[in-house]
Amino acid sequence: MSKFVDIVKAGDPLLQSKATPITNFATKELAEFIDFLFNTMDHYQGAGLAAPQVGEGKQVFVYGVENNPRYPDAPNIQRSVLINPEIIDYSDEKIDSYEGCLSIPRIRGLVSRSNRITYKAYTFEGEYYEKTLEGFEARIIQHELDHLNGVLFPMRMQDIGTLKYTHN
Ligand code: NI
Repeated sequence: MSKFVDIVKAGDPLLQSKATPITNFATKELAEFIDFLFNTMDHYQGAGLAAPQVGEGKQVFVYGVENNPRYPDAPNIQRSVLINPEIIDYSDEKIDSYEGCLSIPRIRGLVSRSNRITYKAYTFEGEYYEKTLEGFEARIIQHELDHLNGVLFPMRMQDIGTLKYTHN
């Protein structure tokens, strides 16, 4: 498997489909696929990357931020992988912030997201867990989890007039 691939772009049916759950945990194939997701995310300087964006309709995504030039104001966020995730609680408090997506290059738009979420997911070994997060990390998870359900951020925008072009 090559180190990275072209990102699947908006308009591809894979980005409009519901991804299927991972059923084989702790395998060499899954470990290699997760590495591949991280490598591809790093290559394109993404804050997160979901499996459908590299052509795999599987319920897994990675994220992490460390001095990312595409997100100069973002805090550093530890690299993480979520498998078969589902959000089980959303805070009523919402925050409006600009989002981008590697599948929609050079476009940003204002999206309202819950400031705090609780999700459930499975570890690489297949152990169930729940976690509560807030701020930018909660936003990333909401954005990436949308990818697993065939949703892209413009579908979450309340005002299409906030759409803007950026140089990266
Ligand atoms: Ni995206």
